Amino acid sequence: MPKVLVATVKPFAPAAVNQIREITEKAGYEFVLLEKYGSQDELMGAVADADALIIRSDKVDSDVLAAAGNLKIVVRAGAGYDNIDLEAASAKGVVAMNTPGQNSNAVAELALGMMVYMARNQLNGTSGTELSGKTLGIHAYGYVGKLVAKIAKGFGMVVYAFDPYIAREMIEGDGVTCLDSAKALYGTCQYISLHIPATAETRGSINHDLLSVMPEGAVLVNTARKEVVDEASLEKIFEGRQDFRYVSDIAPDNAAHLKDTYPDRCFFTPKKMGAQTSEANINAGMAAARQIVAFLEEGDRTFQVNK
Ligand code: 3PG
Repeated sequence: MPKVLVATVKPFAPAAVNQIREITEKAGYEFVLLEKYGSQDELMGAVADADALIIRSDKVDSDVLAAAGNLKIVVRAGAGYDNIDLEAASAKGVVAMNTPGQNSNAVAELALGMMVYMARNQLNGTSGTELSGKTLGIHAYGYVGKLVAKIAKGFGMVVYAFDPYIAREMIEGDGVTCLDSAKALYGTCQYISLHIPATAETRGSINHDLLSVMPEGAVLVNTARKEVVDEASLEKIFEGRQDFRYVSDIAPDNAAHLKDTYPDRCFFTPKKMGAQTSEANINAGMAAARQIVAFLEEGDRTFQVNK
């Protein structure tokens, strides 16, 4: 009987766990849950005899893969898979997948919530500003970016996007103005919402060059990955511009210093929570479980992200 391990430091909502359990048990598999584990050793012990693994932002590195003697598939219940060592997975013949789009709405709603939070001075009761009529630049127009555009238009924002991997017609078809470079996006938009993955190309790419051209009242919103923003540039822009604000779901390493020095101009959630809704957990968790069953039963490799 194949064994499916769900290993999540940050637990899914209980309803999502029940759904995953139901799908795997209906397929005749054994279901095992490891939540809030404290060390990689614990994960390595639990994965030793698992055939399939479902994770969230949990790190699956070469040590974990080496400890997983029976593993055939690992599914990241979510979008970003920078937490999986894809080369090590491929070398071991382990298929890695994600569940694109399944948790996007939760992240998009939080991005807009963060914009409102900053526009209203962190809800401190003083007179703030409105989002209506303001320019918003969406940096990367994937599942989340597209939803952010849709919701932002409901607020009356004027929406722009830059994404070299998405056809202009797709972006413009949504009533969003497509710009040709990141510099043009940052130079045009008061609000920037980041939706780029963390890759070798994007790490540290949001730098002083880009942030310094943002218009008056600049607000950078990060629900993507902390690594994409260059922290030295962040520090420099906070120092140089009294109007610059940064709100992030993934606190930078220098968060405590920024918070102490510029309390009114930055906000960081205590824990990454963009995808932390019951709906997103259910959608991503169920998709992961179904993808495992489809792979183990029929060899279906849709959503595979390694070669
Ligand atoms: C993702 O990549 O799907 C999001 O960053 C959510 O991550 P999480 O599952 O750790 O909340």
